[in-house]
Amino acid sequence: MKIILITGVSQRQGIGFAVAKHLGLEGHNIIISARNLEQAENLAQELKQDGVNVTSVKIDLLDLDSIRKATKFIEEKFQKIDILINNAALMLNSSAKFIDKDMDELNIEFQTNVTGTWYVTQQFYPLLVASGEGRIVNISSGAGSFADPDFGIVNFPGAGLSQITFDYPLPAYGLTKLALNGLTIKMAKEFKNDNVLVNAVCPGMTATRPGAADFGARPVEECVDGIVWAATLPKDGPSGQFFRDRKVLPW
Ligand SMILES: NC(=O)c1ccc[n+]([C@@H]2O[C@H](COP(=O)([O-])OP(=O)(O)OC[C@H]3O[C@@H](n4cnc5c(N)ncnc54)[C@H](OP(=O)(O)O)[C@@H]3O)[C@@H](O)[C@H]2O)c1
Repeated sequence: MKIILITGVSQRQGIGFAVAKHLGLEGHNIIISARNLEQAENLAQELKQDGVNVTSVKIDLLDLDSIRKATKFIEEKFQKIDILINNAALMLNSSAKFIDKDMDELNIEFQTNVTGTWYVTQQFYPLLVASGEGRIVNISSGAGSFADPDFGIVNFPGAGLSQITFDYPLPAYGLTKLALNGLTIKMAKEFKNDNVLVNAVCPGMTATRPGAADFGARPVEECVDGIVWAATLPKDGPSGQFFRDRKVLPW
């Protein structure tokens, strides 16, 4: 059984909670984190009622001290982690165009999705190495690729999305995920000799917000398999790649 840390588990409809529940019901030891500890604690209570072995901890990607404290707490309690799922991220004012994007908002998006994820991974890296078979999943997005046929920077909005009206040609969010994808490749190269496999996974358009299903977003349960698969790859599994539903996505 693995010790698994998942960031950004704050709402019941979220991808992080669905993945935590799935892996927890398989018997793994789950650590869920959120920037609002109370929300993580409430969700942990629910998982406990389902028989999941779960711990909750505060991790705010904009508060590096919270990341250091969480690392210390988990190191003392577990001495290692086997799997890190970098799920936390945010998108602010997605309708802002390049020309009127607020620079403070832009900085917060990059600090959260890129710098914060980098720092979490850096801090927990020794605990992943201690596992001997560490795995990292960076939850990314087709919007963070150039070539995804629907969401990629070159193609968005692609033919598959033609029935939906989009009025945001350059959401900063996509660029943060492009950076995360690049980071995934860099990490994979650097972590190779420590048997730590790292991959980016796009969950697909997923109904984690009210009304999202009306735009074709799929039920959250459907994205879980591809994330769990990447989190539990065997020793000779891929590293430094980008997947959706176990299939390689173009960068
Ligand atoms: N849903 C989709 O269609 C879709 C598609 C492609 C990729 N994704 C990715 O999937 C992941 C999960 O998204 P979701 O759809 O499940 O939405 P979500 O429930 O909002 O998940 C995002 C999580 O990140 C957290 N977060 C935001 N800022 C944070 C910070 N400074 N520190 C720590 N946590 C922070 C949020 O916490 P708060 O509740 O406190 O804000 C929330 O728990 C994200 O990486 C997202 O980019 C989603």
